[in-house]
Amino acid sequence: MSEARNGAGGLEGRVALVTGASSGLGRASAVALAEAGADVALVARSEEDLRGTEGEVSGFGGRALVLPMDLASVEETTGAVERTLEKFGRVDVLVNAAGTDAPGTVEELDVEGWDRTLDVNLRAPFLLSKAVFAPMREAGGGLVVNVSSVAGKKGWANASAYCASKFGLAGFSQALADEGRVHGIRAVVLYPGAMATNWGVWTPEERREREQEEALPSRALPPEEVAAFIVWLASAPPGFVLTEAIITPIEEGLP
Ligand SMILES: NC(=O)c1ccc[n+]([C@@H]2O[C@H](COP(=O)([O-])OP(=O)(O)OC[C@H]3O[C@@H](n4cnc5c(N)ncnc54)[C@H](OP(=O)(O)O)[C@@H]3O)[C@@H](O)[C@H]2O)c1
Repeated sequence: MSEARNGAGGLEGRVALVTGASSGLGRASAVALAEAGADVALVARSEEDLRGTEGEVSGFGGRALVLPMDLASVEETTGAVERTLEKFGRVDVLVNAAGTDAPGTVEELDVEGWDRTLDVNLRAPFLLSKAVFAPMREAGGGLVVNVSSVAGKKGWANASAYCASKFGLAGFSQALADEGRVHGIRAVVLYPGAMATNWGVWTPEERREREQEEALPSRALPPEEVAAFIVWLASAPPGFVLTEAIITPIEEGLP
């Protein structure tokens, strides 16, 4: 790890703000971006888990800013960019990886679960993108990665709020890409399939059960593989438009 940090990782002097950095894809992305040379601001609710990510980052000489917050709060979410700018002076990459869901049929789902899912999965990426836009424009460009899901391509039973938020995030990201294009700001929406994280249905026990019940693919994507793609995006040449990527395990096939 220290080799990449000390060598030419490509992101030296850059700053990334990563949500969901306490776990799974957000954590893997923050660590991989830091390994490539970036300073990282780490957002999630669990300070303890964010400290764990910070420990990994500082293990290879990276700088991290721990920002525990609930992304369902407008005030806390907006403050994340300000605090990142105060600490590091710039923000080049925003990764909106935090996500939540409210399972249940449409009949069962209550308004609170619907609102919370939409607030965390869709409103928070809007607020953060809004806050990073001017600093990125003034710096001549930047990257916003919005983590949707294959559930942002196809609706599933028992996941109406989640699917609505992920479809919405995709539309938001495409609009942002169109607005950002002339300023060198790239917005990319990712649609991952099954990833091997702590995410709801993918805990090891539940996964085993579901594998048997639903013949799920036997391999979920390691979040590090998706994180490597995000690092590539952060250092990709600026001269082309790239707005979305579907990333599924080979075994899962096309969505
Ligand atoms: N795993 C999959 O199979 C899969 C597939 C497609 C898409 N995705 C998407 O990938 C993204 C990352 O998920 P993951 O698989 O890495 O799951 P994960 O390990 O459970 O990570 C979810 C992250 O979101 C954060 N989070 C949740 N609610 C939050 C809130 N109110 N405020 C701040 N942070 C909050 C969690 O941190 P705290 O609990 O510390 O707040 C955690 O860091 C999500 O957007 C998810 O929808 C996952």
